[in-house]
Amino acid sequence: MIAHSKPTIGPEDLSAVAESLASGQLAQGAGVRRFEERIAAACGRRDAVATNSGTSALHLALLGLGIGPGDEVLVPSYTCVALLHAVRLVGATPRLADVDPQTYNLTAAEARRALTPATRAIIVPHMFGLPADVPALAALGIPIIEDCAQAIGATHRGRPVGGLGTVGIYSFYATKVLTTGEGGMLVADDPRLLDRARDARDYDGRPTLVPRFNYKMTEFQAALGLSQLKRLPGFLARRRALAACYGERLAAAGVARPAVPPECGHIFYRYVVRVDDAARLAGGLERRGIEAKRPVFSPLHRYVGEDGFPHTDEAMRTALSLPIYPSLADADVETVVDALAYERAAARRWRRKEAPLRVTSYLPA
Ligand SMILES: Cc1ncc(COP(=O)(O)O)c(C=O)c1O
Repeated sequence: MIAHSKPTIGPEDLSAVAESLASGQLAQGAGVRRFEERIAAACGRRDAVATNSGTSALHLALLGLGIGPGDEVLVPSYTCVALLHAVRLVGATPRLADVDPQTYNLTAAEARRALTPATRAIIVPHMFGLPADVPALAALGIPIIEDCAQAIGATHRGRPVGGLGTVGIYSFYATKVLTTGEGGMLVADDPRLLDRARDARDYDGRPTLVPRFNYKMTEFQAALGLSQLKRLPGFLARRRALAACYGERLAAAGVARPAVPPECGHIFYRYVVRVDDAARLAGGLERRGIEAKRPVFSPLHRYVGEDGFPHTDEAMRTALSLPIYPSLADADVETVVDALAYERAAARRWRRKEAPLRVTSYLPA
């Protein structure tokens, strides 16, 4: 089976975690602090707050911005449901927008259509590792939470994501580009926002009952994160090489490749192609030993019972995510593309057979 995603854990990661465990300091300590400093430096931010997940980092970002009941937060419909949960956790109302049909990202034009006077923040995920146009979105004058869960190391006009909006968040979940098993990080410049996030991350040793959580990262997770961060340039280079390999072979097979605007440094967290029927093709590939997926489980408008997001609906029907991760071999790419071309042709033959018979009259009208 060619897996859809796989973590990249090497001997250096194993020894970093073993050394951390052997130190006896398991809970948040100096290693977590070092990891925060390195991530903040990598995206050009004043500071960072490590968390136990990307979702908790999103929650802290909203709290840090002072968002609560009565406020609206704009989110795209074609993304991970974690965004909806975070908005609801602070008691705010999610307001949904459609995405760009080519890049799958939220655009300023789509956001403008969905804004209301109550909108207090916009969460902008860089979908599949392709940076959204944050400067254009920021020009709307509403604080931007950059969701870099899928995009660590990506750049927009040469600037790293996470450093473009008001506040940024990362996820280090098991299958993310850089993993700590579970984990996340918030990055920002505003000291008040950073203080609020850091305060709410931990409930212990506080004099008041302001709502707080246990969102802390462990030392051995940070040790893994620091080790993975050193390897990140290699991870990204391999993902880009695999994407180029996919690009060449898919072009030869006549399959549409991902759109990458020239100002974007895509990191190919996901390699997403457009096909006629993604669910059906994923089934066909699975029977041939290849795990491909629809990259978003469900559009967010489905959860809240809304309608009118045609690009998101189209993406749900046609976007198919192919295997991509550093340990994937070039030969695997060839196998995937051959199988995809075969299954796509078979599905098209089927559809032609299933189509109702068209009767053409040769008689004069
Ligand atoms: C765009 C996006 N935001 C947030 C999250 C939540 O991250 P976590 O799973 O670490 O809570 C994910 C998770 O996959 C995601 O893809």
